[in-house]
Amino acid sequence: MTYRYIGSKSRLIDRIKPHMGPPKKGAFFVDAFCGTGVVAEAAANLGWNVRINDHLHSAVISARARLINKEQARFKCLGGYTKVIDKLNAAKPKFGFMYRTYSPASFDTCGIERRYFTQPNAAKLDGMRYLIEEWSEDGSINDLEKTLLISDLFGAINRVANIAGTFGCFLSKWTKQSKENIFLRSRVLNNYHIQVHETVGDVFDILSTPNDLVYLDPPYTKRQYASYYHILETVALGDEPKVEGVAGLRPWKDLASDFCYKARALGALSRLVDELKSDRILLSYSSEGHICMQDMKAELSKHGKFTMHPLGSIGRYRPNKTASRASSDVNEFLAIVERSRLEAPKTPSPSVDDNFLVSCG
Ligand SMILES: C[S@@+](CC[C@H](N)C(=O)[O-])C[C@H]1O[C@@H](n2cnc3c(N)ncnc32)[C@H](O)[C@@H]1O
Repeated sequence: MTYRYIGSKSRLIDRIKPHMGPPKKGAFFVDAFCGTGVVAEAAANLGWNVRINDHLHSAVISARARLINKEQARFKCLGGYTKVIDKLNAAKPKFGFMYRTYSPASFDTCGIERRYFTQPNAAKLDGMRYLIEEWSEDGSINDLEKTLLISDLFGAINRVANIAGTFGCFLSKWTKQSKENIFLRSRVLNNYHIQVHETVGDVFDILSTPNDLVYLDPPYTKRQYASYYHILETVALGDEPKVEGVAGLRPWKDLASDFCYKARALGALSRLVDELKSDRILLSYSSEGHICMQDMKAELSKHGKFTMHPLGSIGRYRPNKTASRASSDVNEFLAIVERSRLEAPKTPSPSVDDNFLVSCG
């Protein structure tokens, strides 16, 4: 499944993977801000048991779907996965919430013409989501099968949404892709035989043990995922929230993340690392993030041996061509905190490559 997600590590995963190491018996790789789940999937490929967490249901659904194996999604009652995808693609349109709220039909309900989806696509999307719910309620599909289908539906939505990468707003002119018909594609399922735990909640509530390997990939800019991905969250939950504004945002402020505020990010990160029980923590961050590397090094060194590993540059998130021309690349790095519970060093570790640190502005 591919879709654009701010901060996704899909382009960096080959550089992160070597730092994971082999799985430890009985331990978990904990992807605490799992987003699309591309990092959890890489850990599963190495044989780690995986625990995924995010405060968005839509993110946990995307990540969980990557970890479903063939036996868990046989769709026995409906004739198999491929047949189910065909049935969804043939779903009857429904003039439901997505149609009324996120297609130009919204003009009749609230006086604002929203152009996230064409009217036929929005009605089809409502029909597809309705069918998935109906199958779930009558027992035709199990919970993992439902997760897989909703995640496949996210893929379909992303292919036809009239947006510039996120759902923070819609475009005024219809893109070529947005005029195509919405359709789902099946994916190749794997053969994992690992344990998978999933939670939807605040990162401060996740569980870890000393043997677990915790991976942290917090937001590093002011962009709040709960508002940028509000439509996927509504599809995930299947609810009909009271939406606001031109963009039609569902209420999201309860999910405003401390990591998105420059003044709070470092304190939140330090508290999180301190509260985690794991002896080894990997942290992805960017030279463009709220926390400058020197401050991060000074703070996190208080919790254990701190090392920093440049991962190279990736293209910045670019909403359009003008922004793309004006932008430079972003340097990504992986910080590692290792601690011995008996003797946590209190001074910065000398093994950090100081040449790499960018000075605080
Ligand atoms: C940079 S993205 C993670 C990207 C992910 N590693 C990937 O490759 O797709 C950050 C994620 O953190 C989640 N998030 C932000 N604040 C959170 C919090 N306080 N608790 C749990 N999840 C949070 C966001 O919803 C988002 O999915």
